[in-house]
Amino acid sequence: MASREQFSSTTGFVMAAAGSAIGLGNIWGFPTNTAGNGGAAFVVIYLALAFLLAYPALMAELIIGRASRANIVTSLKGIGAERGIAWAGVLVGLYGVVIASLIYSFYSIVAGWMVAHWAESVTSTLGLTGISEWLVGFSTERNVIFTALFMALTMAIISQGVSAGIERWSTRLMPIMFLLFLALIIYVLLQEGATEGLKLYLIPDFSGLKPEVFVNAMGQAFFSLSLGVGTMLIYGSYLGEKENLPRIGAIVTLTDTGIAFVAGLLIMPAIFVAKEYGTNVFTDSGELIAGPDLIFQVLPALFGSMGSAGLVVAFAFFTLMTIAALTSSISMLEVPVSLACEHTGIKRNKATLMIGSVIFVISLIICFNFNSLFVWVINFTTVYSQPILGILLCIFVGWLWHRNRILEALKPGMPEAESSLFFKLWPVYVRFVCPVLIALVLLQSL
Ligand code: PFF
Repeated sequence: MASREQFSSTTGFVMAAAGSAIGLGNIWGFPTNTAGNGGAAFVVIYLALAFLLAYPALMAELIIGRASRANIVTSLKGIGAERGIAWAGVLVGLYGVVIASLIYSFYSIVAGWMVAHWAESVTSTLGLTGISEWLVGFSTERNVIFTALFMALTMAIISQGVSAGIERWSTRLMPIMFLLFLALIIYVLLQEGATEGLKLYLIPDFSGLKPEVFVNAMGQAFFSLSLGVGTMLIYGSYLGEKENLPRIGAIVTLTDTGIAFVAGLLIMPAIFVAKEYGTNVFTDSGELIAGPDLIFQVLPALFGSMGSAGLVVAFAFFTLMTIAALTSSISMLEVPVSLACEHTGIKRNKATLMIGSVIFVISLIICFNFNSLFVWVINFTTVYSQPILGILLCIFVGWLWHRNRILEALKPGMPEAESSLFFKLWPVYVRFVCPVLIALVLLQSL
């Protein structure tokens, strides 16, 4: 059998995993959730849940992945088999693969909008008014064309494999993304009105906090760290033997939450800068505009009122969004592709083309039934399925696996594992605390 591909360096893994984690969820989801859930109080709850629930769940995936060196289905089947319930592993694994594929199907539609807005900043500069209007107007044709374009891009990267595709492109694109971020934040913070947004973002007000805020914050944390669906598991399976897993997981969690936090420093002030420029930033009921309207109306209105500088800012902003979406989408597509390659032995580029095409058909169905399907698919996958899968994965490592297996997985990169605080706390934590807390938050939403 050909030897299994691996990331060539720690940095390569961190860039790829952070690339998966940092996406539209950070730059769009987190700030708009913050705007829609009362500002800084949401930020505090989010940060707490990211470290108390999402980091341990991320560790479960990295540890399972590196121990079994396989896709989510094969890995969980192996763990189940140790207790005579291989079928349960297969079922949970397949649930993860389906959810990863469905997330890829709607995420690519949204990413397509980013590409369309990016293209508009170019056509507007060239004075092509008709095309510009079509690019930013909502239509099924536009959605289909740009979804196809974006999916083709992710498929091209995934078909190149782990180190020449995922790792190479993540290591190239992530630094560009960080630089664009920095430049945009500096620019926005220097504008009139920015401090009003900063205040709302940074000074918490816990009065009137609703239970939904916890559910939203947990869903956001699971989505942001790409959890439950086997992306981090498969990336973990490509990690070298010598990596210290708890440390590398902490780096990914810190980078991801750090970028979400920093994105708030860009978007929240930008809302109030837009207000300063005369854009309406409140809904009819007096709440701050969140969701798609924020990204596709408030911000473009702001860019539009900034004159020619606005075109450059729009270009930079939508480049940033497209890169962030790209490095996340490749990790989603890798989940079904790795399963197909490892299970059937077909070649990676063939598997990518076949699976990508099937998921594109799902995107088409969503595009043509947008009003009834789009939000439903998002809620089903991210709000409910990701946390449920998180609980199931905790059960697999915490209850079905022997503690020694965890130790075996940790030891090569962490010789002191047995006496480490991580090994004393984490196995008990994923066994008892994590699943119960995730379930409690989920139950609140019902
Ligand atoms: N973490 C990505 C984001 O924040 O945009 C989204 C994501 C990637 C979700 C990969 C799920 C996944 F498997």
